Amino acid sequence: MTASIDYGSYLKLDALLDLQVPQSTPEHPDELLFIVVHQASELWFKVLRHEMDTLITALEAFDTMRALLAVQRINVITEIIAQQLGALDTLPPQRFAQFRGYLGSSSGSQSAQFRAIEATAGLRDAHFLAAIAEHGAPPPEVQAALERPTLQSLVLALVAHEKVSLESLYTGPGPTPLFLLVEGLLEFEQRFARWRFLHVQLVERIIGPGTGGTGGTLGAKYLARTVSQRFFPELWETRRAFYGA
Ligand code: HEM
Repeated sequence: MTASIDYGSYLKLDALLDLQVPQSTPEHPDELLFIVVHQASELWFKVLRHEMDTLITALEAFDTMRALLAVQRINVITEIIAQQLGALDTLPPQRFAQFRGYLGSSSGSQSAQFRAIEATAGLRDAHFLAAIAEHGAPPPEVQAALERPTLQSLVLALVAHEKVSLESLYTGPGPTPLFLLVEGLLEFEQRFARWRFLHVQLVERIIGPGTGGTGGTLGAKYLARTVSQRFFPELWETRRAFYGA
């Protein structure tokens, strides 16, 4: 045990609590909340990326149980990130307008961690690549994530390694760990889409459906399109087979 370490020094609280620097003058009373929800989201993005690395390592080792544990944690964290947006639902539009000008051109669409999570999960479509390209060359963490195999390809490799098929996970005699893993990944997709939906609702609520974003997009209209993006199209497709479509 290191006696010289206490709560504040272990958590670097002096440095941490110094990092909230409102830009408005005089300071707008709501800007602290705005900054903290963004910073807390970025901290959780950091943990999420870390846990996604654990998941990928487990999938690459064909270790279903460890992958399952990682997905469970990923899902709880994703839910937390989504739910904390609710704190900003208490920000009325006229009050946001009072300090929005101080944000300059900063926009969540410049979040390298968010893009790295999307790329790690498996987005590769043109709309996604265009969103990245809008801010120039991809940041290194995003580029690295784009070069990795997608989560879907890793889980499909695991399914093949177990000498089963996706369909058989649903039609076999009973729920298996692999079935729970596939369902857990779909749960991740759903919770991530829930973030997107809560965020687009927040945006509509605060700046309205027709206002362009500080990042230069069409705002809520652009965001609404992202809700239907899919990390795991093949896992979703499996379900369709049961309804003869
Ligand atoms: C007052 C609250 C908020 C407003 C009005 C808002 C507005 C917007 C708008 C208009 C966009 C579209 C891009 C642009 O042109 O700027 C956007 C994107 C984004 N925002 Fe927010 N946002 C808010 C809160 C948050 C929070 C708390 C986070 C947490 C990190 C966040 C993360 C993001 C991300 C990651 C994107 C990119 C999404 C994508 O391209 O799919 N936003 N936001």
